[in-house]
Amino acid sequence: MPELDERVWDQLRQAARAARELAYAPYSHHPVGAAALVDDGRIVTGSNVENASIGVTLCAECSLLGDLVRTGAPGHRGRLIAFACVGPNPGALLPCGRCRQLLFEHGGADLLVDRDGGPVPLSFLLPDGFGPDQLP
Ligand code: THU
Repeated sequence: MPELDERVWDQLRQAARAARELAYAPYSHHPVGAAALVDDGRIVTGSNVENASIGVTLCAECSLLGDLVRTGAPGHRGRLIAFACVGPNPGALLPCGRCRQLLFEHGGADLLVDRDGGPVPLSFLLPDGFGPDQLP
């Protein structure tokens, strides 16, 4: 798997920190920001958007995927290549289980996910993931 320049990871982490500033997290006080590099060169971002009905909270990854789908060129929504996420604590925030599945749809097993100690492919965090290829 090709490695990404460390400058790209720095750019993604910075974009994730900026997105974290835009989070709406009045209930958990746990703002999260996410950023990803798309195969067409875009950087898409997302922030968590909480709700008084706590269970319907949107993770930062959800709004990032909205950004991906909404800002792609007609006929090419783009594939995620590399993903970084930050919460209020130092270091990388690894996506929750549901978001691993959501990311799998748009990045697949090879999506590189930022992790303290070095990026890992999504297949490491979600082995044998279920995706569009499993459907007829
Ligand atoms: N959160 C995310 O945005 N992404 C994750 O992958 C984990 C959790 C958010 C949801 C909620 O607003 C807050 O972090 C605390 O769980």
